[in-house]
Amino acid sequence: MKIAIMGAMVEEITPLLDFFGTYETLEFAKNRYYTTTYKGMELVIAYSKIGKVNASLTATTLIEKFGAEQLLFSGVAGALNPNLRIGDVLVATALAQHDLDITAFGHPHGYVPEGSVYVDTDASLRALAHKVAKAQNIILQEGIIATGDQFICDGVKKEWIHTTFKADATEMEGASVAVVCDALKIPFCVLRAISDAADMDAGFSFDEFLVSSAKESAQFIIAMLDEL
Ligand code: ADE
Repeated sequence: MKIAIMGAMVEEITPLLDFFGTYETLEFAKNRYYTTTYKGMELVIAYSKIGKVNASLTATTLIEKFGAEQLLFSGVAGALNPNLRIGDVLVATALAQHDLDITAFGHPHGYVPEGSVYVDTDASLRALAHKVAKAQNIILQEGIIATGDQFICDGVKKEWIHTTFKADATEMEGASVAVVCDALKIPFCVLRAISDAADMDAGFSFDEFLVSSAKESAQFIIAMLDEL
């Protein structure tokens, strides 16, 4: 089984590369891909750079060029649900693009013809995440993630995304990875640890907690690999 592990920023995959220790590096399409093996599994690891376009390119490359059969996304997110705190870990049930807008033609936010507002994540990977959380005594939240090419740091915008998409967290890659994996029929999950509250202090909070929250998410992914 070949498994892709993907982040958006170098901080999101560094804990993985540090853990696996040795890996091969391949360059493709202005990006680096790291391959290694772990407990009989072939792994291919990459960070896409920020945003939906970069994430789509990387997810497609991981699947089509490197032959990944499952994809696990690891990283940080801003909380929209007031019950989520810095460092909390969330597994996405479904993802939507909050900045996709052809409402001028009567469509709901996040919808384009022949698509759907939400893309569901793989139920068995989600179940695996819950099993790992239980075994490790970690509280794992589950919820909707809204993705857009915007760092959300404004209370009004935050509330709009929260209510429009019933979303619990926001980030900048997950829904595009979801569209790619869904189209290419690759089971995937998106795991995110909270780095900020997507409010006016989000920039400071993100800078402060990016490394620690990214590490939490990466450690959880490693625990999932142990159970795969
Ligand atoms: N990733 C982490 N925090 C975020 C935020 N507030 N907005 C968008 N992406 C994020």
